[in-house]
Amino acid sequence: MTAGEGQPRTEGVPSPLGFPDPGPARFDSVADVRERLSAAGYLADDGIAGVVHLADRLAKPVLVEGPAGTGKTELAKSVARVTNSRLIRLQCYEGLDESKALYEWNYKKQLLRIQAQQVVDDEDSPGGHGSGEPRSWRALEEDIFSEEFLLTRPLLEAIRSQESVVLLVDEVDRVELETEALLLEVLSEYQVSIPELGTVKADRIPMVFLTSNNTRELSEALKRRCLYLHLDYPSLERERAIVSTRVPGITEELADQVARIVRSLRTLELKKYPSVSETLDWARTLVVLGVESIDAEQAKSTLHVLLKYRSDLERAAKELAGVDEAKT
Ligand SMILES: Nc1ncnc2c1ncn2[C@@H]1O[C@H](COP(=O)(O)OP(=O)(O)OP(=O)(O)O)[C@@H](O)[C@H]1O
Ligand SMILES: [Mg+2]
Repeated sequence: MTAGEGQPRTEGVPSPLGFPDPGPARFDSVADVRERLSAAGYLADDGIAGVVHLADRLAKPVLVEGPAGTGKTELAKSVARVTNSRLIRLQCYEGLDESKALYEWNYKKQLLRIQAQQVVDDEDSPGGHGSGEPRSWRALEEDIFSEEFLLTRPLLEAIRSQESVVLLVDEVDRVELETEALLLEVLSEYQVSIPELGTVKADRIPMVFLTSNNTRELSEALKRRCLYLHLDYPSLERERAIVSTRVPGITEELADQVARIVRSLRTLELKKYPSVSETLDWARTLVVLGVESIDAEQAKSTLHVLLKYRSDLERAAKELAGVDEAKT
């Protein structure tokens, strides 16, 4: 597992096990992942940290699924931050294709070069147009399909980078199956074949995070290729810690109350459960309002930060009133 650790990677040499060589380790252990992420403000449990550690050592992409606002995107960003890696993000959307994900040729620039070349050819040729054309076309073709005319997109950028890279393929469930297949191809080999230029192989295998909100089922092939991480709502303790870490000026008591109330709301039957990002928005709102310890009235009057459906607001308000009555 530690093969190649601390040594530069030799391009094209497969590891003895036939897996891609992961290169020098970015993390020492599961605890190291957790501690470094925590120092950067991302609070991971052992499950999350364990998957990140394995992804690094096995050079496998991680498919992160789970409800909205549970820290999927932030996990990739935080891993990039703590490993001093360059974050390259491919934001997925319906209609995303190879030319936006991988590379495309700069057609406008190519056209300009062709036109410029024609002017030179005309001036150089006393015999008029056409003399020596096949040879000059071949040279021109080589010229316009060279590096200078290549527009690299995130996947190719990640493969070619000399630095350590974290590649975030965000909201992969939004792309069509053909683009998913393209991703799969790149992530299986960590190489890209450009017919006019040849094959580009990764010098250092990037850490890859694919996030999905589960709007559609991803292919078995993609799942097979990845380690799987389901990011659910955090435990009470972890959410309280996230609030304390992420909301400057909040009292321990208020962080605890916020986490408890949000947790109890998630047990109700709601159209949309409050996410971690909404918990944080709510906590920040309460701090701005100067609240140090919340009562049911204050909670009710600010619930709209946490819940976004009228029926959910009504249900939550009833629940809070019940808690208040039980207290008195
Ligand atoms: N474990 C965590 N530690 C610290 N902050 C967290 C954690 N989880 C979530 N957050 C906070 O929640 C916010 C939302 O997280 P993020 O945008 O990563 O969610 P997401 O799962 O990608 O949501 P979506 O599916 O809507 O894209 C982050 O900006 C971060 O502040
Ligand atoms: Mg996200």
